[in-house]
Amino acid sequence: MKKDCFIIKGDIVYSESKTELKEIKDGYLICGEGKSLGTCKRKEEIPEASRDFELYDFTGKLIIPGLYDLHIHAPQYAFRGMWMDMELIEWLNSHTFPEEAKYGDREYSEKAYKIFVRDLLKSPTARFCAFSTVHRETTELLMDMVEDSGLKAFIGKVNMDRNCPDFLRESTVSSYEETLRWLEDTEKRNYKNVRPILTPRFIPSCTDELMKKLGGLIEERGLALQSHLSENLSEVEWVHELCPESENYGDAYERFGLFGGHGNPTIMAHCVWSGDEEAKLMKKNGVYVAHSPSSNNNIASGIAPLRKFMDMGLNIGLATDVAGGSTVSVMRIITDAIQASKLYWRLVDDRKKPVTFPEAFYLATVGGGSFFGKTGSFEKGYEADILILSDEDIPTAIEGLSLSERLERYAYIAGDRPVEHKFVAGKMLF
Ligand code: GUN
Ligand code: FE
Repeated sequence: MKKDCFIIKGDIVYSESKTELKEIKDGYLICGEGKSLGTCKRKEEIPEASRDFELYDFTGKLIIPGLYDLHIHAPQYAFRGMWMDMELIEWLNSHTFPEEAKYGDREYSEKAYKIFVRDLLKSPTARFCAFSTVHRETTELLMDMVEDSGLKAFIGKVNMDRNCPDFLRESTVSSYEETLRWLEDTEKRNYKNVRPILTPRFIPSCTDELMKKLGGLIEERGLALQSHLSENLSEVEWVHELCPESENYGDAYERFGLFGGHGNPTIMAHCVWSGDEEAKLMKKNGVYVAHSPSSNNNIASGIAPLRKFMDMGLNIGLATDVAGGSTVSVMRIITDAIQASKLYWRLVDDRKKPVTFPEAFYLATVGGGSFFGKTGSFEKGYEADILILSDEDIPTAIEGLSLSERLERYAYIAGDRPVEHKFVAGKMLF
């Protein structure tokens, strides 16, 4: 039997295009050396060279690609589902910053990050992009823990040198030097699964001087970058006051070379209030939108113009934004995205049609997955990120449901539950 080569049998569903799902009932997914070698309907169609691969028989279970979370705050997982009665700035100052300050303590961090990694491992997420806190040492601790879990991730030490409490604020010099030290440390550790990503928290918490230094790092090293953009109306107004010369919030990053366009993967979370010019700049620079409807609802940020971004052809993935978002499950975010798009259509602009289930599934898989490389599909050549889901214990009297109907039903009814098995890049994690 060839090493790292296997075949999965079951009810296979994945995106065939941005609007359609491919379904293969009792089909076969063939994998070799961490990648999909393709799918087929019948046993006889399995290519000769793959016939002796190990068979995992998951007959009756749903087999789908891994889901991708483009924006999550690891330290905030501890307070998910609490303090949801305020807007962004008040929520950051009263609860988020005091909680994040605790990650200066290794023991607390270990306890909290253990729960975070354990729950993420069981969730539908195969790969993710996470903020830690300003603390370098415990950021490295989190990276070690994620590395060992087998999940794949970009993880960023947060930069913050203004507009936050003293107990969390870095000096400009130390923020930059700790970032350099962190990048050096991560390089030495030779991680297979985790990579660093530059993480200026958002414009209000970083001085121009710090942003200039980070822009220099991007130019030198072409690092990935993640931040927040146009999430909340008061925040957008604040950025306008802080950067009166900028055309818009996105342009405030662009002026420091921190808004994509350098061949470096860049994610901006939220974009609820991004106007046409900002969205055009994102399109031009290949910036990813991390669409976070659960968070946008919880902290009353608004409804992002998802259909507009889709029509413009932007790079888009889904995100939990824990702990603005209260769930770690991107499966749940699929249904939140659909529901938010309906409210947008009904209440904001009736020309922007609601997003369908196959469209939202595409964003959760291929859409966000493309940030990590060729992931999110079972087409030949994609990395073998695979979830095995069971819907046998949510019975219905209706017979003969299609695989798409079963998957849609699973997302709405069982979206938060742990998956049965997970493979990342062809490695079975459990
Ligand atoms: N903007 C700046 N920091 C944060 C954060 O921690 N969460 C959210 N949702 N928005 C932010
Ligand atoms: Fe966030």
